Amino acid sequence: MFTIEELKNDEDLLFDTVDFLFNYKLYFYQTKFLMKCLNYRKIVGKWSRQSGKSQAVAIYILLMAILEKTTIIIAAPIQDQSNLMYSKIRELISENPDIQALLKKDTQSELIFNNRSVILSITCAHGGRTKRGHTCDILIIEEAGDMEDEVVGSVLIPYLASKGDKGQVIKIGTPLRRNHFYRSCYEDTNYEVINVTWRDAVKVGQYTQKFIDDEKAELTDVQFRCEYESEFVADAMGFFPPHILEKSELNYNLFEVL
Ligand SMILES: Nc1ncnc2c1ncn2[C@@H]1O[C@H](COP(=O)(O)OP(=O)(O)OP(=O)(O)O)[C@@H](O)[C@H]1O
Ligand SMILES: [Mg+2]
Repeated sequence: MFTIEELKNDEDLLFDTVDFLFNYKLYFYQTKFLMKCLNYRKIVGKWSRQSGKSQAVAIYILLMAILEKTTIIIAAPIQDQSNLMYSKIRELISENPDIQALLKKDTQSELIFNNRSVILSITCAHGGRTKRGHTCDILIIEEAGDMEDEVVGSVLIPYLASKGDKGQVIKIGTPLRRNHFYRSCYEDTNYEVINVTWRDAVKVGQYTQKFIDDEKAELTDVQFRCEYESEFVADAMGFFPPHILEKSELNYNLFEVL
């Protein structure tokens, strides 16, 4: 059996391993992303919609879990998003009876392996207050653009506190607001950034050029640049930045006009 050390330095070996284990042919940018994940501690993936980011992360998570004892937490802002990535991991496991045999426990939110690796899926709604207290080796922040700064700083990053310089954080998503995700992409130089746009996705056949042409015609310029060019445009374009607008939102009951 190959080791993480061997995979770290050999892109072709990584590609073949994923193909062999999970019956998945990685796109070139997914291989590049996984190579970064194997070699760096802080990773941010700023990718266009439906380009294969959750799939790439799911493959990385499972690879790490089976190769050595690792505790991995997948945190997403809403239940649907954490469920989606978690179910991708379960699908990958179901592809390979040898990997199924490594599984000791399989619940709706937690996978435990014979080598004591754990994959736990959590949702951080309502400020993530009930989610304090976990510890992990790898923290995945799924749909990072949607995850509040407060939750990332006070709840999630502390999961890695006891790991010294061994803990790993991977943020992945499509650009939205100028929050922690933006800072990891442009300001915090400790992060390795992997950028994927619609051009890459068309190149590998994930989208067709026709689909992109239609989306360009259908969406506003800001929407298109955000969803498919992976650009943080919403803040720059608006008169009032969205994060200010969100803070000013109030819910109140409508009353009937007599
Ligand atoms: N290398 C690949 N080969 C074939 N299909 C792939 C590959 N990578 C991803 N896919 C498929 O493409 C679809 C979208 O992938 P995925 O859900 O990972 O995208 P995403 O970027 O996370 O999307 P979203 O922006 O909606 O979160 C899925 O059906 C997935 O299985
Ligand atoms: Mg996704």
